[in-house]
Amino acid sequence: MSQLSITARKGETSQGLGKPAKRIDGLAKVTGGARYAADHVLPNMVFGSYVTAPISMGTITSIDTAPVLEIPGVLRVFTHENAPEMADLKPFAAGGTAQQSKMILQSPEVLYHGMPVALVVAETLEAAEEGARRLEIKYDDLRSGALTLGADNAESIPYGEANPDYEDIQIGDADAAEKNAAHLVQGTYTTPTQHHHPMETYSTTVAWDGPRLTVYEPSQFLVGMQNGIAEAMGIEPMNVHVISPFVGGAFGCKATVTPHLAMNCAVSRQLGRPLKVALGREQHPTMGSFRSPAKFDFTLGCDAEGKLTVLRITDEQLTSRFDPVHMNSAEPVTRIYACPNILGKVRLTRADCPSPGFMRAPAETPGMFPLEVAMDELAEKAGIDPVEFRIMNEPDKDPVKNLPYSSRMLVQCLERGRDKFGWSDRPKQPKSVEKDGAWVGYGVATALYPTNISVSFIELEYDYEGHVKISTAAHDLGTGQWTVVGQVASECLGVPLSKITVSIGDSDLPAGALAGGSATTPSISRSIYQASRSMAERLGELSAKMETPPFSEEERKDLKVEGAKLVTKSGTSVEIAKILEAAGETTVLVRANNPAPGMGTKGLMGFMKGKPVLNGFHFDDHTVASWGAHFVEVRVDKLTRTIRVPRMLGVYAAGTIVNPLTARSQMIGGMIWGLGAGLLEETMADTKRGTWVNKDIAEYLIACHADAMEIESEFLDEKDTVANPLGTKGIGELGIVGINAAIANAVYNATGIRVRDLPLRLEKLL
Ligand code: MOS
Repeated sequence: MSQLSITARKGETSQGLGKPAKRIDGLAKVTGGARYAADHVLPNMVFGSYVTAPISMGTITSIDTAPVLEIPGVLRVFTHENAPEMADLKPFAAGGTAQQSKMILQSPEVLYHGMPVALVVAETLEAAEEGARRLEIKYDDLRSGALTLGADNAESIPYGEANPDYEDIQIGDADAAEKNAAHLVQGTYTTPTQHHHPMETYSTTVAWDGPRLTVYEPSQFLVGMQNGIAEAMGIEPMNVHVISPFVGGAFGCKATVTPHLAMNCAVSRQLGRPLKVALGREQHPTMGSFRSPAKFDFTLGCDAEGKLTVLRITDEQLTSRFDPVHMNSAEPVTRIYACPNILGKVRLTRADCPSPGFMRAPAETPGMFPLEVAMDELAEKAGIDPVEFRIMNEPDKDPVKNLPYSSRMLVQCLERGRDKFGWSDRPKQPKSVEKDGAWVGYGVATALYPTNISVSFIELEYDYEGHVKISTAAHDLGTGQWTVVGQVASECLGVPLSKITVSIGDSDLPAGALAGGSATTPSISRSIYQASRSMAERLGELSAKMETPPFSEEERKDLKVEGAKLVTKSGTSVEIAKILEAAGETTVLVRANNPAPGMGTKGLMGFMKGKPVLNGFHFDDHTVASWGAHFVEVRVDKLTRTIRVPRMLGVYAAGTIVNPLTARSQMIGGMIWGLGAGLLEETMADTKRGTWVNKDIAEYLIACHADAMEIESEFLDEKDTVANPLGTKGIGELGIVGINAAIANAVYNATGIRVRDLPLRLEKLL
């Protein structure tokens, strides 16, 4: 099947950078025209339903498949005894494409709670589910696995033991600085295990046509899935077609090949029939990745004037027994404030869980909690206002890499937020301001998110009638990327959005930007800009075929497409249709990619083979990131200690904002998630049994409409052309960063109770 293409409807004239264009895919989404992976119905298709282990760890001794096979419609029960054999895959933690190395249904050993142990396949969904429900499995050698940091049966190691490339961050002399600090904050800060719980659970619809495989699967990284599935199936990547035009939320959990995705493809091949598997809500969490809990030993000190003198962080996170995954929080948190003595260390706890992975701002969401709470604590000790304290410690360059920032309007974000939020009304003392029986508190925290650049091949086609087609295997996770791709093309070519047809979300398209690390918009901006230059150059070449060539050789070096015309620097122009007519062509096609400096051919090849490489944070001799300041107001009920958040404000500087409408949605969505991360979200472990307690969205608390009250987002004007000539930087993950700390700081301001472990539940305020 050919790729899905979408064009903005007529009358939608908004175009280019900074215009609040409506989503071009909006109509398909609200009319049911948007087909998600599980919406596809293929001829002769069968349905699968997984059974996951209800135990922590143990060995399967028997599986009674006979009664299940008697259920009308049930075809097969795949277990470790008869499932297609699959070798371990190279995990993303080692530069591969897989969520984890360990595959499923390969051995009777249950390695973690919720590990898939059987797949029932039937002619109908109902029969498959009934079979999965009725399947009786007996286990022996039951053990309680470790699921938490500090568990007796877990193994804690310095990260360097698992990853020889890793180095601690060491600047100055943190020990000496600690002894000499005028004010010091020291302590342990913790953030919990979290799960993504996207609206759309992992879903696969897969069909083989001889040696060629078509997979409908929600994806954040089509190149990776195509290569990873090919590796697992032992076939050529070109024979794997992954289709993912719409994704019902991902947040990091859909960037890699999960064990069950590989198994789904293998089972379909063995049966010779298309297969559909959509995971149940309670299955999704243990069949993919999660956000590791983190424990931070944190020290922050300053001199008598309030200048930071020492920052020490040890970030310990959980990983599986088989893959060393770590989302290093020491990296981002050491780049924000000027500090001459820094020590950043990372530790891993190997436990009995699937491999953790990326979850929205993987390093920054947990990492900013200790930093920004400690900043609040230290400001108080030094007797300085927390906003002022942050401004005072503004660095003139990256304190670790010693590189200049490509742009950094953090101070302006803080100042603007301070004014707009009415920071001067902040209660001077805890418990000093009351409203409706609740104490009022204000809190602030900084946000940063590194700018990452992904490889992004763009194909651009310009036709005789002035229509443009733009194709790239980028992804829209609900972010607005369909529209943004069209808008960037509109900007670069001066063509209205309604004359631009966009194709994304399909692995048959040119290899597109990884939808992770907030990388897509800055990455496609570089490449679309490059492609539009190539287009102008190609048209310039063709113009030489005109009876009277319109441009001199000199002029042809700097041409630009502007709508229907090809224009020189001095402003003379010729109609593109006339060029094409003279050349006897209906269309001109160009392909371009403009990876970040330092990627190199080796890096490019790695990406093309599915390695999730991003050039980020440091390139072109700069530290490149987006910045922000978050302000929140809380009310803590005096009797019940219920915490409400009536107001949140985010002020951001993130370069050129392509689409203020969808960008606002990204930011307030992030802030609401931050609110949930601050007050509600936590996957709890039963440490006696080694099982998860609330691995279903029914019991896993997330922020809902009633929690989200007044929320405002504002972008400052910022020019930065280091990331790319159009000045765009990443925004997707910025909105969540620091909200948890801002809430904790506001709760302290309201109550005088300092909470250093998340989430902040009312029982911690009693
Ligand atoms: Mo995002 S957690 O980089 O998918």
